[in-house]
Amino acid sequence: MTDLLRPASTSSGNVLDQVVPQPNEPRYPFGIPYGWFQVAWSYELEPGAVIPRYYFGRHLVLWRDQDGVPHLNDAFCPHLGGHFGYGGKVVNRCQLQCPFHGWEFDSDGNNTRIPYSDRVNNKARVRAYPVREIADHLIVAWYHPYDEPPLFELEIPPEVDDDNYTDWTDVHFSVAAAAQELAENSVDGPHFRYVHNTEVVPEIESYETEGHIARMRSVQKFPTPRGVVDGRIDVDNQGPGFGVTRFSGIVDTFLIGAATPVDANRCEVRFNFKTKKLADAKATSTVGEAFVREVSKQFEEDRPIWENKAHLRRPALADTDPPFMKFRKWYAQFYAEPANGEHDVWAPPRPDVEFQPSFTPPDDLTASRKYRTSD
Ligand code: FES
Ligand SMILES: [Fe+2]
Repeated sequence: MTDLLRPASTSSGNVLDQVVPQPNEPRYPFGIPYGWFQVAWSYELEPGAVIPRYYFGRHLVLWRDQDGVPHLNDAFCPHLGGHFGYGGKVVNRCQLQCPFHGWEFDSDGNNTRIPYSDRVNNKARVRAYPVREIADHLIVAWYHPYDEPPLFELEIPPEVDDDNYTDWTDVHFSVAAAAQELAENSVDGPHFRYVHNTEVVPEIESYETEGHIARMRSVQKFPTPRGVVDGRIDVDNQGPGFGVTRFSGIVDTFLIGAATPVDANRCEVRFNFKTKKLADAKATSTVGEAFVREVSKQFEEDRPIWENKAHLRRPALADTDPPFMKFRKWYAQFYAEPANGEHDVWAPPRPDVEFQPSFTPPDDLTASRKYRTSD
């Protein structure tokens, strides 16, 4: 190939090089990040409950022992591959029993009993993920592709058990895009005007990163019937899966946003909201609910952008753009493998285009066909 024909793949903002993945091919240059990720709400998991989950591109089993402690393990029994999440049981207070032949395992994944043998199989091990439960509300698990133990712990924000705040309001989404693409939104002020139709966009005061922490401070003017109210949106991220957003101005709202990779191409997001109580309980719930609805509406407005956008490794930026590349550099630390540098443009999969026939058979042709087939 001569140089004239070769796409200039090194220039900034070049979109000639478009890689459309085949089914099961990667859609992004990066894989699944490591970190703490919400895998359930506490109320989904009663003591003794055993439920299937699918995150991090893996079949998993989430269960709570009779002492109330939640556990997350790989789903498949090392004996003959039974899935613990479909019919498995908690036995002897804190052992997980396989539904297939009754083998038992402790939460670390060691085989503790084979019901028809006097011995255990020490080689039969199930992968276990470190789990924490936050404020009796969020169950989070540590995922690392090489099974490394936690490289940081989550700092629990004081609002989670502050009586000046309401109880939790939860919202759950599933998005066909990588968690990183959603997280990039947190520094993206300019998109508000176009995607969310807001007249005023948040202005970033500062964006600082330090190890697994990223802190964004911004001011936002909220237009209200009684004039413009100065507000703030401050975000503290602890790794890729756990972000605390504090909205102030009209009402103080506290949000733990938890993005959990389903696989490299899809993620689930859980919003855990609390509103600071106003003098009047009814007003608190009205304003709080309106706020949750607005944030959730904005999320749905973002969805078609996320699901259909290409990931550009070298975006063409304006000098006044927010710190997108600083964000990406911070986020990149959570990938155990370096990003694939072969392509600049990572496109979504081919859409399933609905085929509309432009020719409708005339009535008599349909009738004669009907006549022949019904005979
Ligand atoms: S497959 Fe689990 S006990 Fe046999
Ligand atoms: Fe948005």
